[in-house]
Amino acid sequence: MTAALLAKGLSKRYGGTQALDDVGFELQIGEVHGLCGENGAGKSTLVKVLGGYVVPDSGKIEIGGKTIKLGQRPDPSQISIVHQELSIVPHLTVLDNVMMGAPEVGTLYVRSRYRAAVRKQLDAVGLTHIDVDRVASTLSLAEQQLVEIARGVARGARVLLLDEPTATLSDAEISKVFKVVRALKEGGATIVIISHRLDEIFALTDRVTVFRSGRHIWTRNTKDVDPPELVRAMIGRDVVRGGMHAASGASARKTQLQIRDWSLRRQFGSFNMAFGEGETVAIVGQLGSGADSLVESLAGLHPSSTGRLSVGGEPFQLRTINDAYRAGIAYVSEDRAGKGIFLDATIEVNITAQVLDQLSPAGVISIRAARDRAAELAKDFQIDAHRLSHDASTLSGGNQQKVSLAKAVALKPRVLLLNEPTRGVDIGARSEIYSRLHAMTAAGMTLIFYSTDLEEVMEVADRVITVYRGELVNDRPRSGITADDVLHDILHGPERSAA
Ligand SMILES: Nc1ncnc2c1ncn2[C@@H]1O[C@H](COP(=O)(O)OP(=O)(O)OP(=O)(O)O)[C@@H](O)[C@H]1O
Ligand SMILES: [Mg+2]
Repeated sequence: MTAALLAKGLSKRYGGTQALDDVGFELQIGEVHGLCGENGAGKSTLVKVLGGYVVPDSGKIEIGGKTIKLGQRPDPSQISIVHQELSIVPHLTVLDNVMMGAPEVGTLYVRSRYRAAVRKQLDAVGLTHIDVDRVASTLSLAEQQLVEIARGVARGARVLLLDEPTATLSDAEISKVFKVVRALKEGGATIVIISHRLDEIFALTDRVTVFRSGRHIWTRNTKDVDPPELVRAMIGRDVVRGGMHAASGASARKTQLQIRDWSLRRQFGSFNMAFGEGETVAIVGQLGSGADSLVESLAGLHPSSTGRLSVGGEPFQLRTINDAYRAGIAYVSEDRAGKGIFLDATIEVNITAQVLDQLSPAGVISIRAARDRAAELAKDFQIDAHRLSHDASTLSGGNQQKVSLAKAVALKPRVLLLNEPTRGVDIGARSEIYSRLHAMTAAGMTLIFYSTDLEEVMEVADRVITVYRGELVNDRPRSGITADDVLHDILHGPERSAA
């Protein structure tokens, strides 16, 4: 039987980094194939090579038995790619984004012809509430990701490569992506899916391939692999889970951040609560629930939010990110490429950009001190110290996320707000990040985060706040609840029964 796709001896080197090292990869027709590996293992590079976006130094690729020219984009009916970093054009409509570059459009683009088809694609990925004429920039990150998937699917390609398609999505949306993948498989398509969420790999794939440091480790039938084995193959050792559980109860904590009547029109309201020193609080809700805007608002990202706030007993006005910064609040956004880091600046500059004030009490910046600080933080966050002088754009997705975390932590904030803290970060680095954050909360910092990853919520938080349609559902210590309780809260909201 001919393979859907066959790659042999692929190698790609970037300066001192061997991103792909003599890699072989075979896709069988009609299979769903998982691709796993640590941050920087070479997964996205393989996808880019197969898609003709990156020219490998050596190797050979066959699609449907025919050798293709390296570095040349294959016919879109053959291979379609949903890239890890979004490629949505913000000022265009959803319709235009889906159809742009589609083979059937040809030289004359008559919008009305594609309206119905695009509507169907959007419905299939669960975007029933999104009008095809909406401008893409008005969509949330998760919605944009779903549009991106719709676009990949709309091409009707025989082989679909999905590079972390679910990283920004919450469970409810992920299940829609699962449905799409299963339907495509039924229709005879061959699919590669890259994910750091191992439950997805086990739920969806027929076979799984592991990469480590640019090398192909193995390819096996998924049903013959168990999760610890997969993790071991990925990182070459066992991972200790549960790195962050705080031991102490929430009772005796001194209040760090207090919010009163805190509201944002059409998003959430009104919240009254205190966050203690050293506490780690998860704020959880579905897409559109207001949970994420609540976290953002505390970072000064929503100037129209109203209410009263104080940090360490001191009331303060919160209109801008600078106000938050002055009050000792730091924020890491979920959208690292958009708002998180400067891709064109070096990793070192990224990490230390905001701390330069602290390093230069006399108005003179000590480059040496900045370097030392960057090196220290790089170590804490498992960023390769030899690469500090490289541009952030050369880092893999998960490593960029580590840089944006290091950058915020560098400020030594009193309150650290995180939006999807470990999106796209591999399992090994994730547990390191958790223990690093834990060290900071142990020293008194308050950590408040929004995450769609319930496993992460249950592993990291001491306290879980659930939000449904802008309202508080429950505010409870994590120790007393299960992931199912949280899921129930965010899907159904408060019980309205007449009990
Ligand atoms: N344009 C580039 N310039 C320099 N180095 C690069 C470039 N693109 C990728 N690399 C390096 O190649 C290696 C493989 O990167 P790749 O993006 O394929 O990793 P990945 O497995 O997709 O990781 P992640 O899970 O974080 O997305 C990394 O060390 C990365 O920094
Ligand atoms: Mg990647």
